[in-house]
Amino acid sequence: MKKIGIASDHGGFELKEFLRTALKEEAEIVDYGTKDESSVDYPIIISEACKKVLSKDVEGLIALCGTGIGASIAANRLSGIRAALCHDQFTAEMSRRHNNANVLVLGGRIIGKELALNIVRTWLRTEFEGGRHERRVNQLETLN
Ligand code: RB5
Repeated sequence: MKKIGIASDHGGFELKEFLRTALKEEAEIVDYGTKDESSVDYPIIISEACKKVLSKDVEGLIALCGTGIGASIAANRLSGIRAALCHDQFTAEMSRRHNNANVLVLGGRIIGKELALNIVRTWLRTEFEGGRHERRVNQLETLN
């Protein structure tokens, strides 16, 4: 069973809570907050959770905010994080196969619960293809 983190601001809180419960049988989920719907700043909560991926406390992270945009921008500021904002199963699959995304970002105010769950399931089950994609993913780390 994969050990996966989950983190959101208030905009992603409701979807985070749904996913945390729904995924119990298929992954060990570590909740990095937020704990309720009071307003919090996504750059802080998401970047702190991303550090748990970099330290290998968890194998990957599901990150949520209202749109998914702020969480994506915050996550991708950290070297070694490859965060993919996905609204469908195809991009979730490709984010693993081609980009080796270690953070899946969802917009809590954008997509429905069942679609989000299917996106997460696809993301969890899909492996990185490596090969030419490995070269490209490595090049990302030379950009800053
Ligand atoms: C919070 O209101 C909202 O701005 C945040 O969740 C996110 O959508 C930012 O990109």
